[in-house]
Amino acid sequence: TAALPEGYSIRPLQRNDFHNGFLDVLRVLTQVGDISQEGFEHRFDEMKNAVSDYHIIVILDGSQKIVGTGALVMERKFIHNLGKVGHIEDIAVAKDQQGKKLGLRIIQALDYVAEHTGCYKTILDCSEANEGFYVKCGFKRAGLEMAHYY
Ligand code: ACO
Repeated sequence: TAALPEGYSIRPLQRNDFHNGFLDVLRVLTQVGDISQEGFEHRFDEMKNAVSDYHIIVILDGSQKIVGTGALVMERKFIHNLGKVGHIEDIAVAKDQQGKKLGLRIIQALDYVAEHTGCYKTILDCSEANEGFYVKCGFKRAGLEMAHYY
C-alpha cells in the first residue's frame, strides 16, 4: 500500500473529532447542516454501538408459506443534518408468485418504514433487467454502482 505523505497518519474517527475539522471535510462532499457537538456525539455513539437497523419483511401466502421478502437497512450519517439513508436489499418473490404486485407491496412497505423513520432518501442497486420494476415503484436511475469483490 502507498505510504502517506511525511507526517500524515491514519486512524478511526474519534468522539472528539468534532473539534478537528471532520464536519468541514464532509462539507466538501455535500450539505452537512448546522450540527451541535451534542448531536455529533450522539450520532457517533449510535454508530459505535452498531445500531444499524435491519427491517426484514416477508409476504406469506394463504398456507403461511413465505413467498416474498425484502430488507431495509438504515444507514446513519453525519452529512445532511445527521441524516439517515435507507438501503433496500435482497428483494425476492417466488417464481410462481411473480407478477401479482407482491414485489411492489414489499417496496412500498420498506419505503414507508424508511420515510417514517426519518430517512431523507432510499437507494438500491439493481440489474438493468430490473430497472423497469423499480421505476414502477417510484425509483429513478441515479449514480453508478462500483464494486470490489474479494
Ligand atoms: N422489468 C420491468 N417491469 C417489471 C419487471 C421487470 N423486470 N418486474 C416487474 N415489473 C413490473 C410489473 O409488470 C408491474 O407493472 P404494472 O404495475 O404495470 O403491472 C410492476 O413492475 C410491479 O411488479 P410486481 O408484480 O410487484 O413484481 P414481482 O412481484 O414479480 O416482483 C421482482 C419483482 C422482485 C423483481 C421479482 O421478479 C423477483 O423476485 N425477481 C428475482 C429476484 C430479483 O431480481 N430481485 C431484485 C434484486 S435487486 C434488489 O434486491 C435491490
